[in-house]
Amino acid sequence: MNTGSAPGKIILFGEHAVVYGRPALAVPVTQVRATVDVWPAEHRGVWIEAPDIRLKAALREIPSDHALAESLQLFFTNLNIDPIPNINIRISSTIPVASGLGSGAAVSVALIRALSEYVGQTLSDGDVNKLAYEMEKIYHGTPSGIDNTVITYAKPVYFVRGKPIERLKPRKPFMVVIGDTGVVAPTKQSVADLRKLWEENRRLWEAVFTQVEQIVNKARNAIEYGKIRELGKLMDWNHELLKQMTVSSPDLEMLIEAARDEGALGAKLSGGGRGGNMIALADPSRGPAGAAALRDCLLNAGAKHVIITEIR
Ligand code: MEV
Repeated sequence: MNTGSAPGKIILFGEHAVVYGRPALAVPVTQVRATVDVWPAEHRGVWIEAPDIRLKAALREIPSDHALAESLQLFFTNLNIDPIPNINIRISSTIPVASGLGSGAAVSVALIRALSEYVGQTLSDGDVNKLAYEMEKIYHGTPSGIDNTVITYAKPVYFVRGKPIERLKPRKPFMVVIGDTGVVAPTKQSVADLRKLWEENRRLWEAVFTQVEQIVNKARNAIEYGKIRELGKLMDWNHELLKQMTVSSPDLEMLIEAARDEGALGAKLSGGGRGGNMIALADPSRGPAGAAALRDCLLNAGAKHVIITEIR
């Protein structure tokens, strides 16, 4: 059996504006993972089992425009695999779907890793990333590529669409608490809605995205110089701009307010928004107890899952 695996991710700063060429900061979240197993099938065909999306079917039975069917086709075509081998594919994931934690990109990366190993082709991380980006387009329409990049390399990144990847190097570790509203919100929709607004008034939105760019560059600086307090203010500012982009939601606002009341240095939504996850920055002067208090307060405020992650 061949197995591929990939972590989840969160965007610390710059989601949405990153689609329009501005930079963004993202980090892997290793507490959640997607895993894909591939092994020979007894019967002819590609047999897929994905319990998280309640799918158990042969590839030939799935509509050809289903994202998973398209992704597999893309893989076999790109690697010139013909005929397609008789295989079982099991996809499992602890990453909540459509929640801003990169579930789609993680499944793509894990799938590419498991299948390429199975067919005996060694792919570099660069190759995996390129292919995963093509799969992201199937899911998202116009992705920036940040999700597949941070997930493939599993390292904190400073990302600009189409530019070489830069590593983000925190001077001091810091704790971020991730709260899930439990509201499923496909990124494709919020990205498409913002595009409509942008098409109506490009001048206005380009100016907003340029403010986001300033925040991201200040945040990178704060992370690389260990100025954690400054980071909190930048999170709040970034969140204000995300609200203007119409991608927040009442559930996100409730969790963000709760975290701020509990002493978070800053808080914002993370990823596509309209639901999914928010992040809060724990006050380092309170030690691990600060992050634990934020976790408890988010759970009390209705978060469905909470993850504490240390960024280093
Ligand atoms: C999704 O994790 C981040 C967005 O900026 C979309 C993208 O970059 O493709 C909302």
